[in-house]
Amino acid sequence: MFPQKNRNDVNTIMSTLIQSPAWQALQAHFKSIKNTSMRDMFAQDNQRFNKFSTQMDDILLDFSKNRINDETFKLLCELVRERHVFDWRDKMFAGEAINISEFRPALHTALRNRSNTPVFVEGENVMPKINRVLAQMRYFSGRIRGGHLRGYSGHLFKDIVNIGIGGSDLGPHVVCDSMKPYAQRGLDVHFVSNVDPTHLTEILKRVQPESTLFIVSSKSFTTQETMLNAHSARNWFINHTNDKKAIARHFVAVTTNREKATEFGILEENMFEFWDWVGGRYSLWSAIGLPIALYIGMDRFEQLLDGAHAMDQHFKTAPIEKNMPVIMALLGIWYSHFFAAQSYAVISYNQYLRRFSAFLQQLDMESNGKTINRQGQQVDYTTGPIVWGETGSNCQHAFFQLFHQGTRLVPVDFLIPANTCNPLRNKLGNQHEVLLANFFAQTRALMRGKTEAEALAELEASGMAAEKIKAVLPHKIFAGNKPTNSIIFERLDARTLGSLIALYEHKVFVQGIIWNINSFDQWGVEYGKQMASDIENVIAEGKETQRYDDSTNHLMNYCRLLRAEFP
Ligand code: F6P
Repeated sequence: MFPQKNRNDVNTIMSTLIQSPAWQALQAHFKSIKNTSMRDMFAQDNQRFNKFSTQMDDILLDFSKNRINDETFKLLCELVRERHVFDWRDKMFAGEAINISEFRPALHTALRNRSNTPVFVEGENVMPKINRVLAQMRYFSGRIRGGHLRGYSGHLFKDIVNIGIGGSDLGPHVVCDSMKPYAQRGLDVHFVSNVDPTHLTEILKRVQPESTLFIVSSKSFTTQETMLNAHSARNWFINHTNDKKAIARHFVAVTTNREKATEFGILEENMFEFWDWVGGRYSLWSAIGLPIALYIGMDRFEQLLDGAHAMDQHFKTAPIEKNMPVIMALLGIWYSHFFAAQSYAVISYNQYLRRFSAFLQQLDMESNGKTINRQGQQVDYTTGPIVWGETGSNCQHAFFQLFHQGTRLVPVDFLIPANTCNPLRNKLGNQHEVLLANFFAQTRALMRGKTEAEALAELEASGMAAEKIKAVLPHKIFAGNKPTNSIIFERLDARTLGSLIALYEHKVFVQGIIWNINSFDQWGVEYGKQMASDIENVIAEGKETQRYDDSTNHLMNYCRLLRAEFP
């Protein structure tokens, strides 16, 4: 039960986080550093990059363009020790039931445990069953890609349609999008998630039943959106083929719920299992990654696992001062609490990564959008930030204005591969080099800003009349001092992508531990699901309702009228 006392007395009962010596020291230190400019700090310290950068394989994180100095970094690292982050990390890797409201471990790291060392859940080593499913995925994807397994009428499979939502969509979706250059010719993959019938309808217009394989991806096999889409896809398939038996060849399931998948008509041999200790938003490493294996092949899927495993090893072994996920977590906390930043942005300078921030939204906001701590009390500090982003350079021409001159502080992660798989050059220039130039220019401009003297000198050099200069000058000044992380890697391949995703997973984990919340449940989402199913019944009745609050009743009744009049 929720302790009422804590709910009402949040201002008087200070949490151990706020009271901790490192936190208090950070609070005091903040006053002395909050107005210091990064420009000055760079001018005074030519070792800044060496001190404030770290590397894992070819992935370089430069965090020197942040509002920190040696003292800040020391205190932030101290917070990691005080909050026993590494003890919790070890508990997670060891399979302890750290998801305390669902009474289970969070063992996505075991799914990519390429060392194959035993990992125990309730006394059972789970590695053999993980390896069994990987072997099943290899066999199945090989047979489909090789044309040995065909549709009911002998056609090669040309389209894979993944039906799932949340973690059963976003993870495999971002990976398939990002790995497009490695896809098998003639095999396309589509993702249906929205219960809006438009989503499925538009995709079904582009595929043929005889050459389409449907993957029903649902941990629970009860999620309303997924089940509705799966049944509609099934109806479409039967309408076109007139052959119910053919379903067995065209529908497979990825689920922890065999019983429900059997009820749907999926054969035992076409079920890909995973387990309740894999959280939805952490599941792309499991059989939920089947569309990835089909699209880019099992070898590349395993490279993705290798990359994530490499980041796991880094997280487990690197000292705090060089530990990439830990550092990114600490910087996030620094801005969120001390500079009151509400959000952070992730800007990928790579078109293939266009869905990366959408994936991170679920990962971060579903994990750390919590107000109750691990002891069941309300927290007295802010927790998970708002995550958003887009691809560069597009967004430079959209919301970057606010980064440069707005009143809000938005820390930004910039990501870019040093090389492109699509080199294009023409008489105006080399396109990837221009992309790189924009990446470097933006982080530098955000850090340096432009002083009044610099702006004035520029305007005078342009020959502008003094009167006009006076009017325009204030608008040409940039405060600068906007924090960014720069993440550069050799190229975007499966291994690097695996490492990058695992990097953010662990960053979110570390923040959850420092905030003393459970990053592995999502009761808020469950509440919405429950309410929607009650309302759905009322809509289906088709009668006017007075069942809910005044606003909801009026909205539903108005909608009912609009629907009745619709031809
Ligand atoms: O959105 C809430 C959620 O429970 C996610 O955590 C999960 O990824 C998604 O729904 C889908 O659930 P399922 O895989 O059980 O269909």
